[in-house]
Amino acid sequence: MTKNAKIVDKLNKLIQLDYDAIEAYDAAVEKLQNPSYKEQVAKFGEDHIRHAEVLSALVDGYGGAAATGPDLKRLLTKGKVVIADLVGGDQAILTAMLANEEVTNKTYEAVLSDLGEAEAQTREIVATNLADERRHRAWMQQQVDREKAAA
Ligand SMILES: [Fe+2]
Ligand SMILES: [Fe+2]
Repeated sequence: MTKNAKIVDKLNKLIQLDYDAIEAYDAAVEKLQNPSYKEQVAKFGEDHIRHAEVLSALVDGYGGAAATGPDLKRLLTKGKVVIADLVGGDQAILTAMLANEEVTNKTYEAVLSDLGEAEAQTREIVATNLADERRHRAWMQQQVDREKAAA
């Protein structure tokens, strides 16, 4: 496999993960009751859409074919199907989304540490996306803790 093909593979893994996240976020926005949760989670969903777009542009630049949807073996532990079937209200949804963000953070961290051969701009874009994923995870953790304290 050429150097560029390896980079494309890694970026495509992230693109598939972001598509998986987009669907999980849509399902969560649909189900959340608290309007301020709904609004914030919808904004995070838009971050994932942007992630998929900027990563796809990078893949194009490496001469690869960008993934156009999630992988069949879904990476997220609490994907859209799980979210759609959850009972237990906002707390259950936020807890599931926190588990998902653990996966996005770990996957982005692993890919970033494995992109030594990629151009600096590629690593910067992946690092910027990872910063968003960290922000998502921190917010989910905060709300889960708050919901627990209030229960
Ligand atoms: Fe993302
Ligand atoms: Fe995220």
